[in-house]
Amino acid sequence: MQQENRDGFSSRFGVVAAAAGSAIGLGNIWRFPYVLGENGGGAFFLLYMVFILFLGVPLMLTEMSIGRAGQRNTYGSFRKLAPKSKWYLIGIMGVVGAYMILSFYSAVAGWTLQYLYDAIANNFYGKDPQALDQMFGAFTSGSFMPVVWTLVFLFLTGLVVVAGVEKGIEKYTKILMPLLFLIIIVLDIRAITLDGASEGLKFLFYPDFSKLTSKVVLEALGQAFFSLSLGMGTIITYGSYIDKKEKLFSSAASVSLADTAIAVLAGVAIFPAVFAFGIEPDSGPGLVFITLPNVFQQMTGGYFFSILFFFLLVIAALTSSISLLEVIVAYFAEELNMSRVKATIIGFTSVGILGVMCALSFGPLKSVTIGKFTLFNLFDYLSSNILLPVGGMLIVFFAGWIWSRKSVAQEVLGEGKPETSLFKLFMFIIKFIAPFAIALVFLNAIGLLKF
Ligand code: PFF
Repeated sequence: MQQENRDGFSSRFGVVAAAAGSAIGLGNIWRFPYVLGENGGGAFFLLYMVFILFLGVPLMLTEMSIGRAGQRNTYGSFRKLAPKSKWYLIGIMGVVGAYMILSFYSAVAGWTLQYLYDAIANNFYGKDPQALDQMFGAFTSGSFMPVVWTLVFLFLTGLVVVAGVEKGIEKYTKILMPLLFLIIIVLDIRAITLDGASEGLKFLFYPDFSKLTSKVVLEALGQAFFSLSLGMGTIITYGSYIDKKEKLFSSAASVSLADTAIAVLAGVAIFPAVFAFGIEPDSGPGLVFITLPNVFQQMTGGYFFSILFFFLLVIAALTSSISLLEVIVAYFAEELNMSRVKATIIGFTSVGILGVMCALSFGPLKSVTIGKFTLFNLFDYLSSNILLPVGGMLIVFFAGWIWSRKSVAQEVLGEGKPETSLFKLFMFIIKFIAPFAIALVFLNAIGLLKF
């Protein structure tokens, strides 16, 4: 029964492409620049890279191993690997995290659909930076179109999940993601040749350590995990589909590399333009939507490129949202014994309600706040800065201290293979560095420890 549900989702070949599809999304192109902009630039960037390399890659390898060994969804994998214990709670946290992320993610993906429409209708044409800023504000504060687009996007996500990902998505993402890569490089070239671009590159790459606070450190960690889809079991779920013959080291490394490359290239496309057009780098979630239409206007063929870019961004968002909905659906289907169709309908409806509320957080529900957060900001903040770091910490702790070293080695290296020095380094990180580093960053930021 469980096997059937999972096998319908994806063929075993090319799951690495699916993991990369999950990782590469709005997190790279929308969230990375805006969070970096709000957290002072270069110092954030440096930390982000350090976290990707020393915590992200090992955590990705860990999640892939747990999933492939468990052969189930996150909850089920922990149940199988650590029976009669409470580790399955990580799976429950993952489902809660998927709900939160998918809700605000669909709202932003909805903006992307509107911008695809605007690109086709040539609505950016002739607008200066102020006008584009107003255009974004007027659209997101509305109460109708943002809701419609959120639901359209979620519906598309549900359609793919219910139909099963199989060959279609894998085949297309393999062509479309490299195309996204190319288009961002074209944008990069245009952006860095704008007058005043060097300010932007300096902001992005030059670390000003006076900007470093405990909050910035946690935001960089949260963004690293968010971007790689880590800390909530998405990669555990995908790991369970990876063929036993596949080498996990190289899979984890290539997914992380591709994801990081796209984020950096997006930063290079955006910050030179931010400074060249006099946009504030800490403008928040609208940053990309205000900046890039300016760049398109300065390009030969800008009309064509803007359509292609927003189309590819929708696809990138879709391959990520599928993985989020899959976490929810696989849990409902496998653990609560629902049919896949029923699980998807329940998932779509419940996320839809939350997603609509997130979409309205910039308009009618703007003043409905919890603490200083609208629902959109709350879900964005809570998931990246609490659920993912805590989840990631528990996952590496589990693999380092609870799961036997022999089983980890068997999954990572293959049956009966001797330990390599890379494997020893990996074990050292997940046992002694990662859990404690994440805990320190986290406790420091929430004020329980002070450095
Ligand atoms: N990694 C995705 C992105 O960068 O857009 C977002 C995401 C997907 C986060 C899946 C978490 C997740 F489990």
